[in-house]
Amino acid sequence: MEKKDIVLSGIRPTGNLHLGNYFGAVKNFVKMQETNKCFFFIADYHSLTTHPKPGDLQGNVRQVLVEYLAAGLDPEKATLYLQSDLPETAELYLFLNMNAYLGELERVTTFKEKARKQPDNVNAGLLTYPTLMAADILIHRSSYVPVGKDQEQHLEMTRTFARRFNRMYKNDYFPIPKAFNFGDDLIKIPGLDGSGKMGKSEGEGNAVFLAEDPKSIRKKVMRAVTDSGPTQKNQTKPEPIENLFTILKVVSKPDVVEYFDDQYNNMTIRYGDLKKQLAEDIIAFTTPFRDKVAEISANQDYINKVMKMGAEKASVSARQTVNDVRSIVGFKKIY
Ligand code: TYM
Repeated sequence: MEKKDIVLSGIRPTGNLHLGNYFGAVKNFVKMQETNKCFFFIADYHSLTTHPKPGDLQGNVRQVLVEYLAAGLDPEKATLYLQSDLPETAELYLFLNMNAYLGELERVTTFKEKARKQPDNVNAGLLTYPTLMAADILIHRSSYVPVGKDQEQHLEMTRTFARRFNRMYKNDYFPIPKAFNFGDDLIKIPGLDGSGKMGKSEGEGNAVFLAEDPKSIRKKVMRAVTDSGPTQKNQTKPEPIENLFTILKVVSKPDVVEYFDDQYNNMTIRYGDLKKQLAEDIIAFTTPFRDKVAEISANQDYINKVMKMGAEKASVSARQTVNDVRSIVGFKKIY
């Protein structure tokens, strides 16, 4: 990544941020704002694909903004904005949709999953979710997109759409953006229910939220799925156990991880002790965050100011891109 490269990412306002959102995405945002021109937004258009109640939307948007700020995003360093404050995004989405094909959209894994989960609501927004994401990214001509592993295929689609536009209309107009994580690979934080990823809608007890109170964190972690213990020395850990270690690795010190790893390998581990330690380390990690959420949330003037400033700053490059695209595709003013 070079200094001149533009960085962009977003989060849907569908609930509080959890450890997966933090370690997969926000942690990288906080680091990248120090070196690059960054845009971080709240994807309220995207959240409409699952039909939230109109009355819930604003509160959820506000919560994500507060949590962005509490996690260390600085509106003086990065541009923080609301997706729907940039109608230019919707216009670029329209242009990109003209060159997005049904077959490729139908093959996207998240579309197939959502169609299975909500068979009564397989709307066109779900199908074209990757085109809207591409519009978010390309509207600022971004090159790096810090996201978790679950967004990898969406980024592939953005690359496809950007390449296609460049080939059809203008060579090298859009940069070809890359999914990014500071480690070598994109990451997936697992949930506490034994399989799959941590997610906002994966069911009760799966996700630990950054703003969650300690009592509730202890309760969730103590209930996490385990098994009856290792039956052989140095055996490979089954998924639910590996998952607890994966979370331990991101919140605890390396010697703590090593301690429990050794105990697992020599078969002396007691999962109760592992879980207690994990819960306390999550609590220690999230406590400063919780305190900041309370502080920022009480300051409505500041929240308004941040949103307004973000919308203004983000509009500049968005307008430029949409003007370029209109002209590139042949919309020239003739009057
Ligand atoms: P969303 O809101 O589902 O998730 C926000 C970010 O958190 C990451 N994430 C995870 N990372 C690791 N482990 C997990 N268990 C985990 N769960 C979530 C996601 O990968 C994501 O980075 N489509 C996006 C929002 C979006 C967007 C964009 C992102 C809209 N337009 C343009 C980047 C660029 C989404 O639904 O993320």
